[in-house]
Amino acid sequence: MKGIILAGGKGTRLFPSTKIISKQLIPVYDKPMIYYPMSTLMEAEIKEILIISDNRNLNFYKELLGNGKELGLSLKYKVQKEPNGIAEAFLIGEEFIGKDNVALILGDNIFYGQELSKTLLEASKIKKGALIFGYWVANPQDYGVIEIDKNGEILSIEEKPQNPKSNYAIPGIYFYDNDVIELAKRLTPSKRGELEITDLHKEYLKKKQLKVKLLGRGVAWLDSGTHDNLLEASMFIKTIEKRQGLKIGCIEETAYKMGFISKKQLRKIANTLPQNSYSNYIKRIININ
Ligand code: TTP
Repeated sequence: MKGIILAGGKGTRLFPSTKIISKQLIPVYDKPMIYYPMSTLMEAEIKEILIISDNRNLNFYKELLGNGKELGLSLKYKVQKEPNGIAEAFLIGEEFIGKDNVALILGDNIFYGQELSKTLLEASKIKKGALIFGYWVANPQDYGVIEIDKNGEILSIEEKPQNPKSNYAIPGIYFYDNDVIELAKRLTPSKRGELEITDLHKEYLKKKQLKVKLLGRGVAWLDSGTHDNLLEASMFIKTIEKRQGLKIGCIEETAYKMGFISKKQLRKIANTLPQNSYSNYIKRIININ
């Protein structure tokens, strides 16, 4: 399975912080935002990743993450000229996806929790159709919302409904079979002029090929699209990291834990990093494992 990180967008809500820099380059506590979705894909054992952003910022991402080789990854980059919607990722990524299945994660979504890695690994094994997640939130009207019956079958799916039929929002990580490319091609822009991910999911639902897995309350799903969310996400990461002495979204650690790189390779990376708490952390990982 391949992976796409969508790291473009307008970033309107974070203006002026996003006036000259992409939202997903802004730090969440101690690392750039994109590290979190990147490590989430890696936890699903996804090594081939396409990063999509606007023309100007793509070069910053390339500088930040390179070709991924030193983390045992293959990273590719593609431009989204305008923020034409999340589902456009599959048109931009058509060549990259090729004949494979694909996972898409939004660059401002942070996931953390017990058993998450297991859940993601299972999701990455899907053969047919699409798999999305459901997460209980207090403010479903701000998200895509799913209504499910008592057997866990999806009854309806709506984008930012005024009167949500449930509290289950759809977090920004989705798994698809290869049909996603053709289905995305058939979409037409919505009233707000975007190729909507919800419309894509409706197509899968029509084919009875849309599955949902509910994430329990042991999982944290944070999005960092507003100033308050960004600060809260930073505080959350800081609290957990300080308490446990373990980092969230440390891509070097994830690469090592997932077996993408050896201890020797991790040591080599640690030695090239500036002396600070981040590199000290990686050195500690090497010494205790
Ligand atoms: P949003 O948070 O919906 O939009 P945004 O990031 O442009 O922010 P704002 O609403 O404040 O203007 O986007 C969700 C994620 O998807 C985010 O990581 C940006 C990304 N995205 C793209 O890369 N391209 C797009 O065309 C859209 C709509 C979103």
